[in-house]
Amino acid sequence: MWQKREPPSSGAEFLKAPRDKRNDSQNAAPRREIVRRQGALPAETLPLILSVDPNSDYALLDSGDGRKLEQYGPYRIDRPEGQAIWKRALPEKEWAKADAVFTGDTDEEGMGRWRFPKTPLGETWPMRFDGTDYLGRFTSFRHVGVFPEQAPHWHHMEGLIRNAKRPVRVLNLFGYTGLASLVAARAGAEVTHVDASKKAIGWARENQELARLTDKPIRWICEDAMKFVEREERRGSRYDIILFDPPAFGRGPKGEVWQLFDHLPAMADICREILTPKPLGVVLTAYSIRASFFAIHALMRDTFAGMGGKIESGELIIREKSAGRALSTSLFSRWVAE
Ligand SMILES: C[S@@+](CC[C@H](N)C(=O)[O-])C[C@H]1O[C@@H](n2cnc3c(N)ncnc32)[C@H](O)[C@@H]1O
Repeated sequence: MWQKREPPSSGAEFLKAPRDKRNDSQNAAPRREIVRRQGALPAETLPLILSVDPNSDYALLDSGDGRKLEQYGPYRIDRPEGQAIWKRALPEKEWAKADAVFTGDTDEEGMGRWRFPKTPLGETWPMRFDGTDYLGRFTSFRHVGVFPEQAPHWHHMEGLIRNAKRPVRVLNLFGYTGLASLVAARAGAEVTHVDASKKAIGWARENQELARLTDKPIRWICEDAMKFVEREERRGSRYDIILFDPPAFGRGPKGEVWQLFDHLPAMADICREILTPKPLGVVLTAYSIRASFFAIHALMRDTFAGMGGKIESGELIIREKSAGRALSTSLFSRWVAE
């Protein structure tokens, strides 16, 4: 299956690399020998389809003819969407009301550019998730500083933190603009946020200020996610909840290569090792890869053998307001302790 959430993603560093240079094998080989875990496999729930419905902060208004029309707070935004192979349900005059249109290179990682048909807009604008303020942002590569489809994971994590009624440590790997980190901090967790892009960490810190969460314990770390977890394992640092949302391909700040198919098994294995004795959960999301959720489900179920709990896997979708069609954005697999 060709899963596609347009990748942001891979650090800004990666995106500067020409496409044909990206399959170099530098650091691509897994550095860890993985031994199949013994013990009963966790229970399983699949497929689980987690959906984001139109709400007052965000809505997928319509889609079709290779594009999607979304409402991000005050702005209506028209962007390319390769999966929208159906016809649009809303009339042209609704699409013409867009405040921002991403045009140009429709290659999923292409530069392209933003056009503002009504009035020129600034780079950022105020957004809100569940009462937490943050900035929407017109970035190169068509992204807007948030992946709304992640909301069900954020609610899930928030529930785990609040119900734990004890101090909870959260690790957010590939954390981008930090929404998950802010949600976790607001729910009372101590958070470690890791991303390879200095720029993204800067944006995440801005979001922390805007959300008035600067007094909350969040460590912002600009590092290669794999190197970071390897070091945490050596140091004996432990976490109750781990989120990881890796791109198909990315680079660490020192050019370290991240190749999902090469590195994901080792990262999942290490994530299990760096859990506290009473962990709460691990959430993996994957996108833009040639795989079905069965693949990451099997990986997660094997990885968490002997830990009890259950593995839930499926897709994150966004439900369209105009005609109710589902836009698939990514695959996920998560382990929930019980
Ligand atoms: C899809 S985004 C994550 C989105 C985020 N989970 C959210 O919901 O907002 C992927 C992120 O991975 C980062 N990245 C890419 N390669 C990396 C690496 N080797 N180590 C750490 N972060 C990396 C990128 O900078 C980008 O911010």
